[in-house]
Order: sequence, then C-alpha cells, then structure tokens
Amino acid sequence: MKLWGGRFTKSTDSFTDHFHSSISFDSRMYRQDIEGSIAHVAMLGKQGIIDVEDSQLIQKTLKEILADIEAGNITFDEKAEDIHMNVETILIQRIGDTGKKLHTGRSRNDQVALDIRMYLKEQITDIKALLKKLLTVLNGIAERNVDTIMPGYTHLQNAQPVTLAHHVLAYVEMFKRDYDRLCDVYKRTNVMPLGSGALATTTYPLDRRFVAEELGFDSITLNSMDGVSDRDFVIELLSALSVIMMHLSRFCEEIIIWNSQQYKFVEMDDAYSTGSSIMPQKKNPDMAELIRGKTGRVYGHLMAMLTVMKGIPLAYNKDMQEDKEGVFDAVDTVKMCLPVFTGMIDTMTVNKDNMYNAAGKGFMNATDAADWLVKHGVPFRDAHAIIGQLVLYCINNNKSLGDLTIEEYKNVSDVFTEDIYNAISLETCVNTRTVEGGPSEEYIKSLIELNKKIISEMK
Ligand code: ARG
Repeated sequence: MKLWGGRFTKSTDSFTDHFHSSISFDSRMYRQDIEGSIAHVAMLGKQGIIDVEDSQLIQKTLKEILADIEAGNITFDEKAEDIHMNVETILIQRIGDTGKKLHTGRSRNDQVALDIRMYLKEQITDIKALLKKLLTVLNGIAERNVDTIMPGYTHLQNAQPVTLAHHVLAYVEMFKRDYDRLCDVYKRTNVMPLGSGALATTTYPLDRRFVAEELGFDSITLNSMDGVSDRDFVIELLSALSVIMMHLSRFCEEIIIWNSQQYKFVEMDDAYSTGSSIMPQKKNPDMAELIRGKTGRVYGHLMAMLTVMKGIPLAYNKDMQEDKEGVFDAVDTVKMCLPVFTGMIDTMTVNKDNMYNAAGKGFMNATDAADWLVKHGVPFRDAHAIIGQLVLYCINNNKSLGDLTIEEYKNVSDVFTEDIYNAISLETCVNTRTVEGGPSEEYIKSLIELNKKIISEMK
C-alpha cells in the first residue's frame, strides 16, 4: 500500500505511477531530504512532540540510510513516487512503527520546498566558485595583454583601437555582475519553509527557528501558503544562469570569429578543438560553439518555469513538481560550460601581431586625427569634414592616414604639422584615452589591481 493509501480502494494504474513519479530526477536531493528529516525529527524530540528515544533512533537510522545510498546499496522504487516517500518507506522497513513518526507535523509540500532550497543553495555556491575561477583567469589574460592593441568594433566594423586587456575586462565586468546576482538569489533561497505543513502549518508546537538554525538557514518563511508555493527563487536562479550563459555565448561568438582563418587573432589549443571526419585540414572551435548552443536550453528552462507558475492557484499544486528537471539541467549545463570555457580561454594563444596589424586598417585613428585638429583650434565639425576628405583620398590611393606625406596633409588643411603622426599612432590613440573606463595602459593596470582585490574577497 502507498504511504497515503488509506482512503483508496484500488491501486494506481501502473502507467500513471510512471507518469507522476519524480524519483528518476528528485533522487539527486537524497542528502538534503535526509538532512532535513534529521533536523525535523530532532526538533520533534526536543519539543516533546515525539519521545526523545524515538527521535534518536530515527536520526540514527536516517544516517545509516544516507550512508547506504552513498555506498550505492539502495535502489529507489518508482512506486514510492518521490525521494521523500522512498526515504520514509525505507525508514519504516528498518525500524517499523517508530519510523512512522517521522512525518509528524510535516507535509511533502513543505518538505520538497525545503529540499530544493537546500539543494540550490549548494549549487549556487558551486557556481560562484566557478565564476571566481573564470574571473581570475580573465583578469590574468588582461594583465598579460595591457599593451596588446587590437581593433575595437561597432557594428562589427573597425571603430577605434583598444587593447585585448580592455576587451577581456569588459567580460570581467559582466561576470562580476553575474557573481553579484547569484549572491542576491542566494539570499532569497536561504529562507526555511519547513513548518508550513501542507499549506496552513500544524497544531503541533513546532520550533521552526531551531530547524532553520540546524540546517544553516538565515530565516524562516513568514506565510505558510507562500512557503509551500513559492518558486520565485528557482525562476530567479534560472534567470541569473541565463544571463551567465548569454555572456559566455557572446564571448564564444567572438572567439569563433577571432579563431577564423580571416581573423587569426587567436588559436584554440588542440585540447579544446576537434577535427572533421572528412576534411583533414580542419580544426574547429567546437567547445565555443557548444557553449553558445547550450545557451538555448537554459533560456528554455527559464521560460518553461515562468509558464508553469503562471496559472497556479495557491497553494501547492502538482504542477510544481515540474520545477526540478529544468533547473537541475540548467545548473548542470552551467557547471559544465564554465570550466570548459575557463580552460579553453586560458590555453588559447593570442596572435598579437595579427591583432596589431588589423588595428592599423580601417582608419581607426580618424577620430584622433580630427581631435588633433580640434586641439589646434579647428571646430569639431570642420575637423570631421577635413579628416573625411583625407580618408576618401586614402581610399582612392590605397593608403592609411599614417602613410600620407605632410604635403598631402597640408593640401587639405594648412593647420597640420609633423606631430600629427605621433598623435595618430595606435599607441597614442589607446594610451591618451586615460578617462576612467578607457583603454589606456595606466587606467587598465589600476582596474586589474582593483579586480584582484574584488576577486580575492569573493567568498
Ligand atoms: N514530488 C513532489 C514534488 O516534487 C513532492 C510534493 C508532493 N506533494 C503532494 N501533495 N503531492 O513537488
């Protein structure tokens, strides 16, 4: 008979059992489920709701069950539906009537809310550590490339020269925000729902704050109907994970472009590339493509969860069992993508010469040439027009601004003097942009130091 089978006269249809069982995916919360039960039953004993000896026997047996699961000695049963009833069934098999006291003052509704919060808290902590590692690697790449000049783009058209450090540190900002977002989600996940019961708490004198303390929660949920039916923290986590994937995917897209034969800015290490089964010459950036591709499934889980929750009347409804597979897959995906990405970027070779040469093309110093004129008394709009004329002349004569003779400059405006050449060198373009946030070596070095401090303080 099912643990809830008292009022039933028939057993469930076997295909139905398969349909509504969640053990195939919620078994991964076995440790959280057992730790939650131990805290609950310890509290029942402390409050005199059950005998202290019974509480102790249940706690001891739960620990043995945990060890047996970890040793691989337990096979879960689909007929026992979910991880909660599987553990309880095994407990009752082992200690009989005493085991039947575990579920006093508790519902699976608050139990599952507890388990998923505990499970996700651990996952958030893991992902924060992976982000910290990635940030360390990226800040290191920046440090090695403060003077690696490369083209900066808008519309994927050459715009103004930047450095690889400046470019990579843009991603450091993104992943720093991702880290903060996870800290924020953690706060709202770190609230203890047990004691909410099915929806309206219970008549037993539970000590919810004791359970929260035992399990390392900061606080308890303040409304039992919300306690069992809130999955905002799942949605928030999926959202934070989607943004992480979006950032990884953008960077992957750039790496794929940089790694192409046309750009050759970087080369992926063999350890992070794959070949073609037909074209012998191929070395493909598959890891970057896969990370870009996997972004879609994480977004999908976010949309699915928002949709699952949108029409659920208070309080618990079985729809909410659909929360787990998506968020588990999203967590697994991010936990695979982050280390692969970190290893890939850490081992890629940077072709500084190709980056520098590419930065010399496309008149990326045109703004600086116009600014030079402004600094010599020409109004900006006129300066813009003069440099525009020179660019057209260069295009027609297959030259860059740096190739022009001083006579050619003077033909367009007699304001020009010899020091225009220094003013439009790539190094000058980059290093005179000392405004905070810019590419100058001086500012970038200070930002790298600041990042080191911020990263080292990440917990
Ligand atoms: N497996 C269920 C879930 O994941 C546990 C809660 C079931 N509660 C219930 N009243 N059927 O949501």
